[in-house]
Amino acid sequence: MTNTLRLGIAGLGTVGTGLLDIVTKHSASLAVRAGTPIEVTEVTARDRDKDRGVDLSGLTWAASPEAMATSENVDVFVELMGGDGEPAKSSVEAALRAGKHVVTANKALLAMHGNELARLAEENEVALNFEAAVAGGIPIVKTIRESATANQISRVYGIMNGTCNFIMTKMRNEARDFADVLAEAQALGYAEADPTFDIGGFDAAHKLAILTSLAFGREIDFSAIYVEGIEHIALDDIKAADNLGFKIKLLGVAVETEDGIEQRVHPTLVPKGSNIAEVEGVFNAVGLEGDSVGELILEGAGAGAGPTASAVMADIIDIARGNVVHPLGLPVSMLKPYKRARMRAHEGGYYIALELFDRPGEVAAVAQHMANQNISLASIMQHTSDTVEKGAKRETAPFILITHDTMESDVRTALDEIENGGHLASKPRVIRIERF
Ligand code: NAP
Ligand code: HSE
Repeated sequence: MTNTLRLGIAGLGTVGTGLLDIVTKHSASLAVRAGTPIEVTEVTARDRDKDRGVDLSGLTWAASPEAMATSENVDVFVELMGGDGEPAKSSVEAALRAGKHVVTANKALLAMHGNELARLAEENEVALNFEAAVAGGIPIVKTIRESATANQISRVYGIMNGTCNFIMTKMRNEARDFADVLAEAQALGYAEADPTFDIGGFDAAHKLAILTSLAFGREIDFSAIYVEGIEHIALDDIKAADNLGFKIKLLGVAVETEDGIEQRVHPTLVPKGSNIAEVEGVFNAVGLEGDSVGELILEGAGAGAGPTASAVMADIIDIARGNVVHPLGLPVSMLKPYKRARMRAHEGGYYIALELFDRPGEVAAVAQHMANQNISLASIMQHTSDTVEKGAKRETAPFILITHDTMESDVRTALDEIENGGHLASKPRVIRIERF
């Protein structure tokens, strides 16, 4: 390594150009803080001719990410292309094998290949840093990996996708249409290249997979996560939740149970007034419960050029300072295999929206099916849907049930029986409740 820390940036989209902006704007103060000058020497992306609104003159355009990964003019390979396939995977592997440090914001890559990549980094005694991969500008990776390392962690949870939180906040506060708000999130650079990763819950699940490994000392196992997205959340549900004293958030939760670790991502009713309920817009918040520190919650912008590039830059400065740690907190050889707790065994409260046929005895029949599974109802409310004009005659009636804490398998059985009993005009909508 020369005295100057030389960066090669693969990917010049929202985050890559955000990083170039920071390096250019703060080069003098970064050199002082890092203890060495930091300079971008090479860049690459798909389209060399695209106007990116940043000055690329003086920078070498690498022929490919793989070429840049092994270039003798690069000390740190910064992967900001995205995706768990090529060229991200092979170029990161090539850089690590060539003894280059790697900084990436790519949660999909880490969720799918993080164990092997961390092992490769350890073998080559280089850093694999990924603060920006989880919750944008929030320093949650460093917090778990380094600051909370004295703790036995029992739960990690949070709002981990800025796009979804932005969409649900705008739908609730401005009564706007889902597709319209998603388009705005895309224009602001929050969404993934394929936004179904955001709204389908997979992006949050990628992040949760990484946090679970760091928090519980387990191998990353993305395939074990229960995932539901926000596609089926209706404005009616958001309003009904509001009337009942809740907000709906897409949460990622990993919690230690007697059976193993429960990992789940799904829309969740959270009590209004709780810290997590007040996190709005593109903001994320991640909380953890540690045996010594107690509850710790970090909140900040979860997406966007500035916040994400800020986290990337922090990782680069760590490398400049010589702070190279095990990427997953422990040597990969010491991580335990992931032990999954079944979702059917999950216990909690449930919000259940039912469209019942408007006939005598239907509500009583539903209550009986619930009682058969020992499900105790905290409230039952006839809900006036906005989708029917006032005064119009309807043949069905929308009801909202809120349960006390109950076992997921019992809820599923009761709902199967209610459906099979011919009581429902449409599929039930179920949203889990999380208490804080
Ligand atoms: P983006 O705006 O879509 O930019 C992706 C960049 O990668 C583009 O410059 C693109 O080139 C380049 N690229 C894509 N495929 C390539 C290939 N095959 N070869 C060379 N270059 C390629 O994405 P982004 O939002 O900056 O996200 C980058 C990474 O950061 C992703 O892993 C994402 O999940 C993560 N992240 C993003 C945010 C955020 O708020 N946006 C936050 C946290 C983490 P062209 O420009 O020439 O097409
Ligand atoms: N698409 C992601 C989000 C980017 O909306 O949270 C940050 O990881």
